[in-house]
Amino acid sequence: MLKGKHIILGITGSIAAYKAAMLCRLLKTAGCQVRVVMTPMAKQFITPLTMATLSRNPILVDFFDPENGAWNSHVALGEWADCYLIAPATANTLAKMATGTADNLLLTTYLSARCPVAVAPAMDLDMYAHVTTQLNLSTLRERGVRVIEPGEGELASGLSGKGRMAEPEEIVAEIADLLSEKKKSLAGKHFIVTAGATIEPIDPVRYITNHSTGKMGYAIAGELAGRGARVSLVSGRTSLPVPKGVERIDALSAADMYVAVTARWPEADGAVMCAAVADYTPEHVAASKIRKSDDDISISLVRTRDIAASVGADKGSRILVGFALETDDEQAHAEAKLVKKNFDFIVLNSLRDKGAGFRGDTNKVALIDDKSRTDYPLMSKREVAEIIVDRIEELIDNRK
Ligand code: C5P
Repeated sequence: MLKGKHIILGITGSIAAYKAAMLCRLLKTAGCQVRVVMTPMAKQFITPLTMATLSRNPILVDFFDPENGAWNSHVALGEWADCYLIAPATANTLAKMATGTADNLLLTTYLSARCPVAVAPAMDLDMYAHVTTQLNLSTLRERGVRVIEPGEGELASGLSGKGRMAEPEEIVAEIADLLSEKKKSLAGKHFIVTAGATIEPIDPVRYITNHSTGKMGYAIAGELAGRGARVSLVSGRTSLPVPKGVERIDALSAADMYVAVTARWPEADGAVMCAAVADYTPEHVAASKIRKSDDDISISLVRTRDIAASVGADKGSRILVGFALETDDEQAHAEAKLVKKNFDFIVLNSLRDKGAGFRGDTNKVALIDDKSRTDYPLMSKREVAEIIVDRIEELIDNRK
């Protein structure tokens, strides 16, 4: 969705400017061309060298180069861009944008930009809550600027509250949504997505889990919501922000996840089972911390219920998509799961492929159904989410 898009990344003087480095990297990974404009104050928070290296373009700060007089044309920049993202946006810059002040290149570029504009505010909680800031934000919203809400949490001042700039992944998802030309093709459909690792408690302080980060499932949930679907994201342990328009239901253990999914299944049009669900759970959870002694101990593990197989047994005309993360004999294992769990198709990723599977922002997958196997090159998890949801749309269209 973001591939080939021209993004101006405007950076203002806030501590959150350090997150602009990650933001720039994510935009580049998504295939964007990025030009960075900084206010003079922003240079105190993150160096032009860092941003020039990450964006692979010189940084723009001044109206002209004092060495040779070369003009930095904000008009040409505004015309070049598909989107102007100002992140972080300080209270000062938001106020100037709302009043049309044009005393630096970042602001004149805003006034010249014909493309969609988004701001990600970052400031202390009282500054954010102040009526003036809120009025400036509503003025900007009325004029079509997308405001990417800050999150709550610890702030540079040591206080805690609303004012932390949204996380880079969240900002990139908002930009993708802003630039999305896709129709709301899944409006009226309800999908369940499971994501992340389950946690199986051993005692009040210990548990069994796995390496899943939830990135793939969260990307799929975001993609489904971006196309207009109602999404119930049944989430195990992750540290990811909830994608826009998605309802997250926390279900940490395999048993909780089973309940959350099966309760919603009768009303759903489909599910994507992306979670790394524990196959075994401790038979007994100790009520208090297990004390060490000189002896070895063993923990008796019992099987969890297979959520995918349960809903697959009662699939009707719903769509069910599964994942297979394999280390060997990949095709045979994936095919067996396709049949056993009654998936419409299964997404195979192999830990033998570099850049696939857990943790990273990329994945290399094959989509397998009862008739065919389609292999894809290494892609970002966002792009993988797009091809999976494209395939879901094809299935829906074929059933009409
Ligand atoms: O059998 P295996 O765990 O490899 O199957 C993987 C697929 O089944 C994934 O789609 C996963 O989310 C789903 N699954 C499940 N409930 C389980 C185990 C796996 O939904 N208890």
